[in-house]
Amino acid sequence: MSQSPVSILFVCLGNICRSPTAQGVAEQLIAEQGWANKISVDSAGTAAYHVGAGPDSRSCTAAARRGIDLTSQRARQVHPHDFDKFDYIVAMDANNFSDLRRHWPVGSRAWLGQLRDPAGKPLDIPDPYYGGADGFEAVLDLLQQSIADLLPWVLTRHNQSH
Ligand code: 4NP
Repeated sequence: MSQSPVSILFVCLGNICRSPTAQGVAEQLIAEQGWANKISVDSAGTAAYHVGAGPDSRSCTAAARRGIDLTSQRARQVHPHDFDKFDYIVAMDANNFSDLRRHWPVGSRAWLGQLRDPAGKPLDIPDPYYGGADGFEAVLDLLQQSIADLLPWVLTRHNQSH
């Protein structure tokens, strides 16, 4: 029997650096693995500072060097409906996680959590906004590693519960 795709929302503060990059990294992996009918992804920010803006040009440049195009994304703020609309909401760091948990409407169905490091511990993706180009490369390194682990984990978990 065919299943509806599992949906993942990546969330950071501004939705112009980390979470758009996470979305782009996931889209590239999904395309490479042929999982387009199994997983859908989106991103949002806990803050409204940059709503409607495209991703930071430094994120776009760093991602493009790895064959990932972020330029068609536009920033939006997390909406209460997202907690029911998405199967998984993945925070980029512990601050984003606690902000989301505080706003989690009672009874919402989404799983809320963070990416994991190779040892299985919650992973904080450092905010690169006020730093140099190295920070944007580090964000990509961490996201490519951790999202490669996240996607099969989500698929396995989704299949077990449906
Ligand atoms: P992001 O980075 O949360 O990874 O999108 C930031 C973008 C903008 C700001 C902070 C972090 N800001 O303060 O405007």
